[in-house]
Amino acid sequence: MAKSEPLRIALAGLGTVGAGVVRLLAANGGLIAARAGRPIAISAVSARSRRRDRGVDLTPFAWEDDMAALARRGDVDVVVELVGGADGPALALARRALGAGKGLVTANKAMIAHHGMELARLADEAGAALRFEAAVAGGIPVLKGLAEGAAANRVRAIDGILNGTSNFILTRMEQTGAEFAAVLAEAQGRGYAEADPAFDIEGVDAAHKLAILAAIGFGTCLDFPGVEARGIGAVRAADIARAAALGYVVRLVAHAELVGPEEPRLFQRVAPCLVPRGHPLAAVKGATNAVAIEGDFVGRLLFEGAGAGDGPTASAVVADLVDIARGGRTPPFGLPPALLRRAARADPGERRGRSYIRFTVADRPGVLAQLTAAMRDAGVSIESLVQEGRPEEGGEVLVTMVTHEAPERAVSHALTLLEGAPDLAEPPLVMRLVD
Ligand SMILES: NC(=O)c1ccc[n+]([C@@H]2O[C@H](COP(=O)([O-])OP(=O)(O)OC[C@H]3O[C@@H](n4cnc5c(N)ncnc54)[C@H](OP(=O)(O)O)[C@@H]3O)[C@@H](O)[C@H]2O)c1
Repeated sequence: MAKSEPLRIALAGLGTVGAGVVRLLAANGGLIAARAGRPIAISAVSARSRRRDRGVDLTPFAWEDDMAALARRGDVDVVVELVGGADGPALALARRALGAGKGLVTANKAMIAHHGMELARLADEAGAALRFEAAVAGGIPVLKGLAEGAAANRVRAIDGILNGTSNFILTRMEQTGAEFAAVLAEAQGRGYAEADPAFDIEGVDAAHKLAILAAIGFGTCLDFPGVEARGIGAVRAADIARAAALGYVVRLVAHAELVGPEEPRLFQRVAPCLVPRGHPLAAVKGATNAVAIEGDFVGRLLFEGAGAGDGPTASAVVADLVDIARGGRTPPFGLPPALLRRAARADPGERRGRSYIRFTVADRPGVLAQLTAAMRDAGVSIESLVQEGRPEEGGEVLVTMVTHEAPERAVSHALTLLEGAPDLAEPPLVMRLVD
């Protein structure tokens, strides 16, 4: 195909992101054609309902009721999958498109986290492009930054705020002092949280994105099941207030690193953490996303921007299309799939650090002694211990503790010693301090 020929695309899914792509190409088509060296032209589209008004003009494009048909069309070079879901029709379409030698662009982090290796191999065999910039941190060009901008570095660590809903809730709790459930309801009302927010607030969405970042950053095989993920549902207003008194904010931090110089092992975790106020991730507020990357020569790179929304996500999708139109050949994970290393998982018990622990206990004499005895018996020394206020007679009180640096295994052991203690009203909440 001559370079000035349009890159012909098909869109599967015309929801928030799909309609955003149509709008963006209509608004900036000339500029994009100049930058890409050729126009990007939509040949065909598909969604569930043909009649639904999407606020964009679809009349110039062919319509397919069955989106699988997009992969069979002769007038399509690249299929853009914007339907969602790890499996099902999105995965079937992705396999079909790559199998037919067509390029595939997707914003689907769940599908890439689960099936990215298979799709990368399919793309490699077919000599087809596979791109998913929009799958991680929406509009932020962080995959390109990692795979291309930081290509000369050994990446040591990746830290990110990768879920806008969780970050919105945590920063709103910080600003208003309100509890999690009330802020979640507000976020749903304002359209920041889905009707079913489970993936967002339980850390699964961030885990999908972290697994993708880690594979690209470290040149390792995708290992989504290896991500330890915990969400923000147990964080209380009192934890945020206590963190503030200590000079910290609470953030849902996604962290990945390669541990050990020989036979490096992969550590991947998403969990609410105490982040010191001066840390760049502490300044990330509301639905914003940010990713910090530590490279051995470049030092720390910080990417920040909108992690969702039609405009930012469409921007990342179209950037991938521009790359393909220019003939870009970067492998989807920065290395040919056969060269991605299979790294063993690091043992979290060996990690050392300080922990914040909040206990909800019965307001009875001797309870503090039980907590400190468990810490002593597990070899964990306590840096500070605070009993928060005094509720009504016979009620529960919160006791918060910050430990000195200790192996995580020792902290877990202390909590095991306390398991089932009648004075503990609920399981303790542990948050690591990012130092
Ligand atoms: N929204 C964001 O800000 C954002 C950010 C980053 C990544 N993403 C990812 O982008 C993808 C799309 O998200 P979205 O927010 O645009 O979703 P959405 O608004 O729910 O749109 C999904 C689209 O897929 C269509 N669809 C669903 N099932 C289908 C089927 N079986 N056959 C054909 N079409 C089907 C829907 O058709 P109808 O319209 O006819 O129902 C709709 O047009 C997801 O993978 C998501 O994770 C989204």
